[in-house]
Amino acid sequence: MEINGRTRICGLLGYPVAHTLSPLIHNTLAEELGQNLVYVPFPVKPDKIGEAVKGACALDIAGLNVTVPHKSAVLPWLKEIDPLAEKVGAVNTLVRCPGGYRGYNTDLTGLQRAMESDGIDLKGEKVILLGAGGAARAAAFLCAHAGVSEVWLLNRTSERARQLAEEVSTGFGRSCIHALTLAEYRQIPAGSYLAIQGTSVGLYPDTEAAVICEAGLYEKIHTGYDLIYRPFDTRFMQLVREQGGRAYNGLKMLAYQAIEAYELWNGIKVSRETAERIIQKLKEETKTDE
Ligand code: ATR
Repeated sequence: MEINGRTRICGLLGYPVAHTLSPLIHNTLAEELGQNLVYVPFPVKPDKIGEAVKGACALDIAGLNVTVPHKSAVLPWLKEIDPLAEKVGAVNTLVRCPGGYRGYNTDLTGLQRAMESDGIDLKGEKVILLGAGGAARAAAFLCAHAGVSEVWLLNRTSERARQLAEEVSTGFGRSCIHALTLAEYRQIPAGSYLAIQGTSVGLYPDTEAAVICEAGLYEKIHTGYDLIYRPFDTRFMQLVREQGGRAYNGLKMLAYQAIEAYELWNGIKVSRETAERIIQKLKEETKTDE
């Protein structure tokens, strides 16, 4: 593409940023949609996030993604915040608004859209959520937002699970989340559940690991959604399939959180066909570096 006087700049604030797939997604979108926009990574050290936001505003950067370790730390530097992102207490997308940026959380809406595209409707679902870190956090808030009937939140550190369950309950005024430790999974009542794998266990290169391996858990799961996308087929997904369930990885969530950000920056809607091409490109990219 030609960079000229009208080129708009978007980018990623994170630390580190070297391994991000976001430039691939956004620059492909700009190319496919014929938009004069480039997306670049900005390594921003933890104590520099405020200056980075002010500088971006001065430079009139059109839109930003925010990743680890800034997703919550950036909040005081925003002019406005989307109500759903405010409940989550974390943002991953900044959109230009008068005098600064408005923060959104497209990890949440991106996961929802990814699930919808796989035919998963959270409304009324019974959910088992594994993990209580950053990735699981978006999933926990999404569950409450989308009206699941109940969530069994399992985490190695029980305090973290309890804390997250409490935050979600406070945010939505309903206590649908039960916090347990991993070992307590047997307390989950009999039934058929959607399971969301939000821990970092099983991530490349530790591909033989799963946070829980016992068949007793997987017998209860009709669909397993792993938020990990490296490897493409995780041990968790294999365990779900071995007990007859359907399994998906986190590649679509990665694609749709980016697509939702791109839509917010440009005031457009990305078609399903374009989204599928992005997902295909990500598939090829992540396969080659394993
Ligand atoms: P992310 O942003 O990827 O969610 P994180 O915030 O560090 O990263 O969270 C990692 C998640 O994986 C947590 O739920 C963590 O459990 P703890 O809260 O007990 O730390 C979980 N996790 C990481 N390594 C684990 C392991 N070996 N066994 C079980 N859970 C693990």
